[in-house]
Amino acid sequence: MSKFIIEGGNRLHGELSITGSKNAVLPILAATVLNRGTSTINNCPNLEDVKTMQEILTSLGLKVERKGQSITVCGDTIKTNEIPERLAGKMRSSIVLMGSVLGRVGEIFISYPGGCAIGPRPIDMHLSSLRKMGAEIDDLYKGILHCKVNRFSGTEILLDYPSVGATENIMLAACLAKEETIIRNAAKEPEIVDLQNFLQKTGVEINGAGTGIIRIKGRSEIKADVTYKVIPDRIVAGTYMTCVAGAGGELVLRDVDYEAVSSTAYYLRNCGVDIKLIGEKDLLVKSDKNLKAIEVVRTTPYPGFPTDMQPQFVAVLAKAAGASVVIETVFENRYGYVEQLMRMGADITVRERVAVVKGVKRLTGAHMEACDLRGGAALVVAALSAEGTSVINNIIHIDRGYDRLEEKLSSVGAKIIRV
Ligand code: EPZ
Repeated sequence: MSKFIIEGGNRLHGELSITGSKNAVLPILAATVLNRGTSTINNCPNLEDVKTMQEILTSLGLKVERKGQSITVCGDTIKTNEIPERLAGKMRSSIVLMGSVLGRVGEIFISYPGGCAIGPRPIDMHLSSLRKMGAEIDDLYKGILHCKVNRFSGTEILLDYPSVGATENIMLAACLAKEETIIRNAAKEPEIVDLQNFLQKTGVEINGAGTGIIRIKGRSEIKADVTYKVIPDRIVAGTYMTCVAGAGGELVLRDVDYEAVSSTAYYLRNCGVDIKLIGEKDLLVKSDKNLKAIEVVRTTPYPGFPTDMQPQFVAVLAKAAGASVVIETVFENRYGYVEQLMRMGADITVRERVAVVKGVKRLTGAHMEACDLRGGAALVVAALSAEGTSVINNIIHIDRGYDRLEEKLSSVGAKIIRV
């Protein structure tokens, strides 16, 4: 099992390019199932979850080829409707294949999805929405779902909560449905807009993504040869911003969607980090490590402060002068990493969804375990700013969302190796 060894205390200098978004490319790859033509997706990050999605598509009988950052999916035939349990269980995004595979072939066998252990993560909104569109869904033995539909029927769906995955699943199911589907209280994340933009390229009449109401007019068939470039990863960009904040230095981040990272930039500025947009897509991030606490930050759906940045931000607050309050409103159990940060000397008290972070003067290197993707990234952020050497085990979690993180950070002056 691989681990990172990090010698803290080195300032970061130079520039990094931001790779394509994991949480955008996964539903877009799931959407290629709907297209009988050839979809070429550019700017695909090289990540474990993306490899898993490629394997799932291949197992369905689609022709999938990766060349560098580009993945081509040829969707003329689908040979099976069973998603292998070992693959579906590896990541959360496998669930959105329900909408696309069911829409395309009318039947699917799929197990409950995997993904980070950050709370119960139910799929009730996915199931009730697809049922409302006409799917029959049975829970077979051992958690395998068997779903059938003749053809989805467009309808109006009001989500109880703007769930990202449920919004994507409905969008995908609606593409080949009879008539129009309207999603109200839809998620507004940039990844939803990216999925809409891809679907529009394939000829689907869909609009409203980025607002709370999305309308999709179903078609009888989708057959188009399309090329599409995935948006940059706002969480990867945000994570590098927190790395500089904690370790100090000056970094230019290339190819950033500023709007998508602006809530992270807002709170980091409040802590004393200097963040400037230079040109259209480059961000200059400067920190002298003299950080101050913030009164309170709450994670909320987009455009609020993202739950996927909460752990990395807490790692920064761990050394900010004063006490900060962090409230996690999206997931029930996203503080698993805090115990590990405390091994470095952080002073953090967690009670249910609230963390009180009292900034300490120094963190010291420690042996730690990454327990989920963003929690693992938080340990890297803290270790870069700590005195001495840290060892982070179980970095398979970090590899799910960051492409060769150690190479990128080494190139800007961090002392980090993979063993
Ligand atoms: C997506 O997860 C992302 N994953 C997550 O990123 C991200 O944290 C999350 O959206 C919120 O932004 C992918 O895109 C692959 P949700 P998703 O459905 O779709 C509850 C990362 O680190 N809920 O918006 O699973 C749910 O339990 C990952 O990259 C239900 O109750 O998130 C949670 O409390 C982690 N029933 C809340 O809604 C449902 O049917 C938000 O979940 C669905 C969700």
